[in-house]
Amino acid sequence: MKKGLFITFEGADGSGKTTQLNKVKSFLEQNGYNTIVTREPGALKLGQKIREILLHSEEKVSDKCEMFLFLADRAQHVETLIKPSIEQGKIVLCDRYTDSTIAYQGYARGQDINLLNNLNNIAINGTVPDLTILFDVSTEIAQERIGNEKDRMESTGIEFHKKVRNGYKELQKANPERIKCVNADNDIEKVFEETKKLIQCLLQEKYGE
Ligand code: TYD
Repeated sequence: MKKGLFITFEGADGSGKTTQLNKVKSFLEQNGYNTIVTREPGALKLGQKIREILLHSEEKVSDKCEMFLFLADRAQHVETLIKPSIEQGKIVLCDRYTDSTIAYQGYARGQDINLLNNLNNIAINGTVPDLTILFDVSTEIAQERIGNEKDRMESTGIEFHKKVRNGYKELQKANPERIKCVNADNDIEKVFEETKKLIQCLLQEKYGE
């Protein structure tokens, strides 16, 4: 059996990464790959409860509480879905993962990045992505795409978005082998062309196909 693969999709709100993830799923399935799509926060039942608190809490969620909730969701997600799926030889496509915590809770909210790295490592226990695609979007285009229907995280404003974007760029610089950046200001098809090339490179590298 082929070894499974783990690919994560990252970017600030409004980057269009979820649209691209779905296009990658179709592309892989058309080529016969057994693929599963998942997301953070809230892929599983328990995670949906956490997601509800994170995105729609009426009570103020403290920064530390937010951090632990994202991490708690991740720990459960890795152990019960991501890791077993990779072991079954599937290609796992995950909408957001560890880099979101570093970009949002670290660079944007100001939590200690070393601490977050350590906590992420505890949560994922070695399940590091084979490839992370970073959809880099300018703040102006992201705001247009988000429109008026904002959740708690999306309502944090333009400065917050800029910090998130910058955080992702720093992450990419620090992990150039794993994290590949795509210009997400372009239209859907152009972004997909770039994205598809990255996927094809990975398939070539891992499976020789
Ligand atoms: P979601 O509706 O899933 O947004 P998107 O389609 O942009 O992924 O909301 C997830 C929000 O949670 C998003 O604003 C990013 C944020 N988030 C963090 O702040 N830290 C994390 O570790 C994760 C996984 C997400």
